[in-house]
Amino acid sequence: MKTTFYGQSTFMIETGGKKLLFDPFITPNPMAKDIDIHSLKPDYILVSHGHGDHVADLVAIQKSSDAIIICIAEIANWLGKHGINNAHGMNIGGGFNFDFGRVKMVNAVHSSTMPDGAPGGNPAGFVIYTGGKTIYYAGDTALTYDMKLLADENVDWAYLPIGDNYTMGVDDALKASSFINCKNIIGMHYDTFPVIKINKEEAAEKFIKAGINIKLPEIGESIEL
Ligand code: NI
Ligand code: MN
Repeated sequence: MKTTFYGQSTFMIETGGKKLLFDPFITPNPMAKDIDIHSLKPDYILVSHGHGDHVADLVAIQKSSDAIIICIAEIANWLGKHGINNAHGMNIGGGFNFDFGRVKMVNAVHSSTMPDGAPGGNPAGFVIYTGGKTIYYAGDTALTYDMKLLADENVDWAYLPIGDNYTMGVDDALKASSFINCKNIIGMHYDTFPVIKINKEEAAEKFIKAGINIKLPEIGESIEL
């Protein structure tokens, strides 16, 4: 199983011949200018919430791939009004068995409106059980005690925001790693905008000192999960 970073919180996970894309925000991101969104061709697009830096390329990529979108019910309804009728709506606490594995939608502490101002329901994270691994994609979130509910899920890899200002910063992400009892962390949601610029070396050092395997990939870089 491998994952590829496309900037901000956008990742692909390739598992069992299926491609899962998370929170596509590529064309408005100058750091990701070399990525061609129409070459991605995901089978599924998982959307954590409605903010522009998570859905900017959602409709365009869905149209060029016919991907099934996995998201909260309110975003699925919004997509229906924009001509996309294959979204799979879920809600917090619910799980569903897809052909690549199981997805459970979990709590995130944040806000959610669509780019046109429509309500986006609650923000969410995902726990994905696929290829014998358990993966937690936190979305945009604060540190929350709800993360302790994942401590006995044996999470192999966790995608956590570390950019501060809009989400957890590095220090709270370290606490989150401990709450969820996971030693393999992929950082996201940093450096894209001035207010979420971080010192990558300092951030990595803090995780390493805590005994955590931290990955902060370059845009376009893939990691084996
Ligand atoms: Ni957000
Ligand atoms: Mn965001």
